[in-house]
Amino acid sequence: MAGVDFARKFSYATRTMRPSGVGELLKNSNVPGVTSLAAGAPDPDLFPVKEFKKYTNKAFKDFGPGILQYGPPEGFEPLRQALPEFLVKDICEPITKPENIIITAGSQEGLLILAQVFLSRGCKVAVDKPTYIGAKEAFDMFSPEYIEIESDEHGADPKSLRKAFKDHPDIRFYYALPNFQNPTGKTMPLDRRIEMAQIAGEYGQLIVEDDPYGRLRLEGNHIRPIQSFASENTIGLFTFSKMLAPGIRVGGMTLPNQMEPNAKKRIMNKAAEIKGRGTLTTAPFNQAVITEFIENNVFKNHIPRIIEENRLRRNAMAEIIEEFFPKVLQFTSPNGGMFLWGELKDEYKHLAPKLNMHNIMDELVEQHKVDFTDGRFFYAYPKKTKPSMRLNFARWPVKKMEPAMKIIGEVLTQKLS
Ligand SMILES: Cc1ncc(COP(=O)(O)O)c(C=O)c1O
Repeated sequence: MAGVDFARKFSYATRTMRPSGVGELLKNSNVPGVTSLAAGAPDPDLFPVKEFKKYTNKAFKDFGPGILQYGPPEGFEPLRQALPEFLVKDICEPITKPENIIITAGSQEGLLILAQVFLSRGCKVAVDKPTYIGAKEAFDMFSPEYIEIESDEHGADPKSLRKAFKDHPDIRFYYALPNFQNPTGKTMPLDRRIEMAQIAGEYGQLIVEDDPYGRLRLEGNHIRPIQSFASENTIGLFTFSKMLAPGIRVGGMTLPNQMEPNAKKRIMNKAAEIKGRGTLTTAPFNQAVITEFIENNVFKNHIPRIIEENRLRRNAMAEIIEEFFPKVLQFTSPNGGMFLWGELKDEYKHLAPKLNMHNIMDELVEQHKVDFTDGRFFYAYPKKTKPSMRLNFARWPVKKMEPAMKIIGEVLTQKLS
């Protein structure tokens, strides 16, 4: 009997797929005994379990057993109705309408749906340098060419975006992360968002604006999204993963009111088709519970609780870096989100061979049960990047994170000696 020759059966996408970096990131995050500062996971001890119990019951009372039935691919209608206001509360006027929202299983599914709508083999997509690894992996399924956008301390640089659009008019979209960017934690100021919107308008380009962390602002005021300025040509992505719980798997995509009606209708139809063909619908039960959370103002108390704790954790992490980490590394100091990003300062680039972050990461897990992320994961083209690392400050209480951070600092220092 002949065995199956799988090499001849795999699709182009799976044949060319490299091992998942996200898988690598998550590998140690649930291993008992490992203090992982690697994955983008929030702290389960801050999940509002009591509220989940209460509003699960209320959801059955209010919406009936139908929340356990299949639902429409676009999402649970009461949640779609509540979202336009909720998404921009205290920031600006609603940018979208219920009929222009598709609820997805987290924003990761939104990214894959948008990739399916817009990308095909060999096309171009503009991404930050570095960018969110999960977006890159969703886009990778369609083998695009990446045009990388440079950044400074305020996030992606408009000059670099302009150049990208000018040199590559065939870019399908620019994937933007203006709030507490993953991985760097940088935030784009208001004037830069306006400029990005203007540039996209000038070149007739599409922006996909992903905002999982915006509500986790530790200080300062919220800043209006790019979508509120480039509302003809920006698609938004949102998620409840970081402000509530990732296991609930509810996020979505929004099309702005001002988008040209025909374009809006076509994008909505295509995205809803893909959503339906993939998973039929996002779990209506989970969407119903979130609707209760919104309608009963649960976020009003819950988000400040996370913020207060995360502020302590970010401050503690920054202090340990200051005291225990080698000074050759430069770290960002984000006003929110979940991550600190460190990279080798340019003047020390001769030390790069001593800081093989991937090996250091493996050694830390094996010998000390501590984990961080090698920054190279986050680059479209990682070969020529300087040593860098991402640390999640939000995952563990200070008492648990402190010793892990000190070990990382000590090992890095040893490597340089
Ligand atoms: C920038 C960004 N986008 C999207 C996601 C996906 O999150 P989820 O699918 O849980 O909404 C993440 C998760 O870490 C992220 O950091």
